Amino acid sequence: MKILHVVGARPNFMKAAPVMKALFKKNIQEQVLLHTGQHYDQNMSRVFFHELELPEPSINLEVGSGTQAVQTANIMVRFEKVVQKKTPDIVLIYGDVNSTIAAAIVCAKLRIAVGHVEAGLRSFDRTMPEEINRIVTDRISDTLFTPSVDADDNLIREGIDRNRIHLVGNIMIDTLSLLLPKARQCWEEARLRNIADKKDYFLVTLHRPSNVDNPEVLSSIVKTLVSLSKQKQIIFPVHPRTKHRIHEMGIACNTKGLKLLNPLGYLDFLALQTEAVALITDSGGIQEETTYLGIPCLTVRTNTERPVTVTLGTNTLVGQDMNLLQTEAIRILKGNKKQGKIPPLWDGSAGKRIADIIMNL
Ligand code: UD1
Repeated sequence: MKILHVVGARPNFMKAAPVMKALFKKNIQEQVLLHTGQHYDQNMSRVFFHELELPEPSINLEVGSGTQAVQTANIMVRFEKVVQKKTPDIVLIYGDVNSTIAAAIVCAKLRIAVGHVEAGLRSFDRTMPEEINRIVTDRISDTLFTPSVDADDNLIREGIDRNRIHLVGNIMIDTLSLLLPKARQCWEEARLRNIADKKDYFLVTLHRPSNVDNPEVLSSIVKTLVSLSKQKQIIFPVHPRTKHRIHEMGIACNTKGLKLLNPLGYLDFLALQTEAVALITDSGGIQEETTYLGIPCLTVRTNTERPVTVTLGTNTLVGQDMNLLQTEAIRILKGNKKQGKIPPLWDGSAGKRIADIIMNL
């Protein structure tokens, strides 16, 4: 069996690694890893391959940045040529980024089988580019690997044939549980100790267009962070999109308590998560990782495609209400932390379940 994996953006890498590994264990040697080049900076892409023990991609489409349409279209044009040449039996795609939808459309039209890992998530917010990517990708993929029961329910409600849906659990947790001991060791190394003291900081990430592309919204978030940083150190590895916006808009964020860093690798960031007082984020993956780790997460969004992190986990949605963010953060500092449970099938074996299903297709 010949399998082609498509990755492109930072959150894809930790999802593809355990699936590839599980398939190698089943003796599927013919696996091609294709990188679309959607993310291309050293610290948004290259560092992950080494840390996650992913093989170097044998093909890189080098599409780079662009508007939603330009980026998606460029991936499609370049991917079509490659996939016709490689003739895989199945193409595996991950998550909800532009690389995911682009590969799905090309394969659906060439009648090449597609498996979507992390299918069925819905924020019900069509202003998010990722929500459009999710809906279209699931509609046209052949096999849907879901992380949680709510994802199955969403797909069934949309009329998708139950036989195509496979509940396999959360693939991100395979990587997290495997690398957690290694991540904890990062604290022994000088570079993390130079950044922060354990249990003495909030860790922040922000990159959603809805939060960082609007000057009023971004400046009110940064103002709140500056104010919070007077009570507790804030560590903020800044995504390139956010960095560009902060510069363009001339937003002031130079205070002693707010430490801006370049994006970090997987292990360093995971290590920082394990010892944070709480996370403040708009990332999807971090809502899940904090739930697994039992660390409080304040999500700067009004909705989430990962509702189980709120109902069972440690996640609280604060939207763009900065008073609420401040109140919740202070509540946490006073020791009042939301307690959570690890959701079912977040057990480190999702990759194996996916590999078992692929072997039986
Ligand atoms: C993408 C995904 C998002 C995911 C996020 C993780 C889509 C629609 N969005 O958003 O779901 O959570 O990745 O990071 O696919 N840039 C660089 N260097 C890079 C990559 C990007 O400088 O290596 C800059 C470019 O100026 C680019 C901007 O960041 O215009 C945004 O990158 P892009 O891939 O378009 O979307 P993200 O915001 O990263």
